[in-house]
Amino acid sequence: MSDVINSPVARGQGRPADDLGALVFYSEFDEPEPWAEALQQLLPALDFRVHPDIGNPDDVRYALVWRPKPGFFRDFKNIRLVVNLGAGVDSLTNRDDLPDVPISRLSDPGMVALMRSYVHFAVIRYARDMPEFERAKQRRDWHYIHPRPLHHTRVGILGLGALGAAVAESLAGLGFDVRGWDHAAKKVPSVTCFHDPKDWQRFVGELDILVNMMPLTPQTRKFIGAELFDRLPRGAKFVNASRGEVVDEDALVAALRSGHLGGATLDVFENEPLPGDHPFWEMENVYITPHLASITVPEMASRDVAESIRRVHQGQDPLHRIDPRKGY
Ligand code: GLV
Repeated sequence: MSDVINSPVARGQGRPADDLGALVFYSEFDEPEPWAEALQQLLPALDFRVHPDIGNPDDVRYALVWRPKPGFFRDFKNIRLVVNLGAGVDSLTNRDDLPDVPISRLSDPGMVALMRSYVHFAVIRYARDMPEFERAKQRRDWHYIHPRPLHHTRVGILGLGALGAAVAESLAGLGFDVRGWDHAAKKVPSVTCFHDPKDWQRFVGELDILVNMMPLTPQTRKFIGAELFDRLPRGAKFVNASRGEVVDEDALVAALRSGHLGGATLDVFENEPLPGDHPFWEMENVYITPHLASITVPEMASRDVAESIRRVHQGQDPLHRIDPRKGY
């Protein structure tokens, strides 16, 4: 634990007069120290406490949390703001312990840059035939495949929220033919955007690579399944960088086994860690990463967290507020 976390201010003793109250931090993945240090710089009057060592829960006015356990919020009667330590807020919606206060997600440039880099990697790997060269190397085979111009690769981005739109625009900037789908009408520079259900087949039916960037909500759970895979052209590739539960994994396994799908790059899964006996591990055309496409970068994201706390302290709305009924 750093000095910041152990400081008298952090322990709730000797608080300054302009006291903002306490913030509770909870995550099984993120270290608290960088957040404590960054927030202490920005909000010296904030009392940063790391769960479960939180002292009197009645002092807590803000929560900065990643996937808190069920019942977590019951202890905190005076909470005014919940900030999700990430982009996807699915672990904060559909739970019965959540206080009726604003919920914010993080949306910082560091997270966007990491997500872009992950999807660029996956798309470029397919568009430049890298899986073929990975296999050819195993055979010591100088296996020439004539490169295709980038604009011949049609990439579809499913979900044009903050991250999906940023990824779509940057792929278009690299020279790919990018199309986007969202349930609402969206405009993304250099991207052909669809939203009308009558255009669904036009969107899905002409893709070389489909990238899922949809949030997990009751409407999107298992949305990507056999019906969608059947509509993709034979040999299309699939990339999932949002949530595993948006995909029907049995249907994905079947589409990959039948050869209808040519490959998948998966960062997220229905069950994480991916169980050791899951068929994906054995499938040569599946590329697996352990849910790290994008993470929050405390030095950058803490500015938005501090601004949201300031705003809520002054009775205003926080940044990046989500609608818990919609789930994003
Ligand atoms: C990561 O999965 C996030 O939602 O930020």
